Amino acid sequence: MGSVSLKIGDGTARFKSATVCSSAVHILMLFSVLTTNLFALYAFTYSPKPHHQIHFLSHHHTHKNISLISEQVSLILREIDSSQKKLAQMEKQLLGYESIDLSTPNMPNELKLFLQRNQLPLGKDSRTGITEMVASVGHSCYKSMDFLSQYMNYKPNGACPDDWSLSQKLILKGCEPLPRRRCFAKTIPKVGLHPFPLSLWRNVSEKIYSWSGLGCKNLICLNSKKLNRDCAGCFDLANGNENQRFVKSRGKNDFLIDDVLALGSGGIRIGFDIGGGSGTFAARMAEKNVTVVTATLNIDAPFNEFIAARGIFPLYLSLDHRFPFYENVFDLIHVGNGLDIGGRSEKLEFLMFDIDRIIRGGGLFWLDNFLCSNDEKRKNLTRLIERFGYKKLKWVVGEKINGSGNSEVYLSAVLQKPVRV
Ligand SMILES: *[C@@H]1O[C@H](CO)[C@@H](O)[C@H](O)[C@H]1NC(C)=O
Ligand SMILES: *[C@@H]1O[C@H](CO)[C@@H](O)[C@H](O)[C@H]1NC(C)=O
Ligand SMILES: *[C@@H]1O[C@H](CO)[C@@H](O)[C@H](O)[C@H]1NC(C)=O
Ligand SMILES: *[C@@H]1O[C@H](CO)[C@@H](O)[C@H](O)[C@H]1NC(C)=O
Ligand SMILES: *[C@@H]1O[C@H](CO)[C@@H](O)[C@H](O)[C@H]1NC(C)=O
Repeated sequence: MGSVSLKIGDGTARFKSATVCSSAVHILMLFSVLTTNLFALYAFTYSPKPHHQIHFLSHHHTHKNISLISEQVSLILREIDSSQKKLAQMEKQLLGYESIDLSTPNMPNELKLFLQRNQLPLGKDSRTGITEMVASVGHSCYKSMDFLSQYMNYKPNGACPDDWSLSQKLILKGCEPLPRRRCFAKTIPKVGLHPFPLSLWRNVSEKIYSWSGLGCKNLICLNSKKLNRDCAGCFDLANGNENQRFVKSRGKNDFLIDDVLALGSGGIRIGFDIGGGSGTFAARMAEKNVTVVTATLNIDAPFNEFIAARGIFPLYLSLDHRFPFYENVFDLIHVGNGLDIGGRSEKLEFLMFDIDRIIRGGGLFWLDNFLCSNDEKRKNLTRLIERFGYKKLKWVVGEKINGSGNSEVYLSAVLQKPVRV
């Protein structure tokens, strides 16, 4: 009977993907396997006409018997197929997605080529255990097939469409990672870049940024807007508040870089800034010879290009994505209101555990002016942070009067990750 189940190649992928699924599907699978086996047992022992039983030794009847069996087998296969379809349907409902069906018409050929699995030429690799090369895209791409198809419809080896805002739209819908493309992305001449460290604070011509798909078409427009809680006028490096941040305190919630570095007792060399606006934190850290990677998307502004023009490292990544860093690598992680990802509290927990994963033991977590829109939120966040057992080196809950005269509660903290054994 083993050979029967081996033949259903089509179904194996679905069973594979069921491993992430809830117990409901496991029970259903068990049920389906059981019924399938019972069916097979029944088919092999069942004989419709007693007449055949008497003559089964004759050559003629053996042939009949075999054809009957193969009839039964195909019946079983049909049954398996239909129960697997039902199973896949249930899986889809539970997970909210299904795998991308590359056989659907209108599927861009480039997407098919990209996702095609390739067997390793020499068979199984003994070190990694893999047998094929698999390219992947975010599972939620399935939910945005129209955008994805649009994104993957381009001329191979030609110029890519100027569609970065389309790709960001896909990322924001959970289609991350995006598939690779075989086209040349639009190039913008980066003229007039300054040498480091002059680049950290010098203006560059606005022409080196990509403005397509953005509401603003220049820096003055960007600076007149509050782009997010951590970036109000953050593209103006000469005037305003941006060049004061981290070196001049406006209140007890503002910690100074020198003070925080002193808490790290000389061991702060590399850091990660989550939702770091125009990169000023990384710029100030660069002046202290600390290398900081700044994670940001380009929501309403060319954040990544601006950061790169300053000579610091931009990371184009949404916060829904697991950080592409190994365990225990960073001496310091800095986050402001980027931590406010909304949604269920588990969502914040997933993020916090991922942050915890990449800070080294003894490393610092700097929560900077996090707006606690209500008391419950502050208590929840405090409870969550306390669960990680970090040492509170600094912990300040302060109030600020905002633009419309209301008082708002902010939490700033510097916490030290314990060495867990
Ligand atoms: C098929 O073969 C079995 C023995 O393996 C026999 O008992 C049975 O009667 C046969 N059935 C038919 C339909 O010939
Ligand atoms: C840099 O550009 C901004 C406009 O975004 C302007 O306000 C500022 O004065 C400029 N700074 C220098 C040093 O040119
Ligand atoms: C940064 O490194 C340079 C070169 O090693 C050194 O001259 C400078 O003093 C360092 N700055 C700080 C703030 O440590
Ligand atoms: C606070 O946590 C509780 C329990 O986990 C949860 O039910 C509640 O929705 C959370 N409140 C906020 C504002 O996140
Ligand atoms: C000020 O705070 C209140 C209460 O938190 C809020 O409703 C309002 O939108 C805030 N105003 C501004 C300009 O941020």
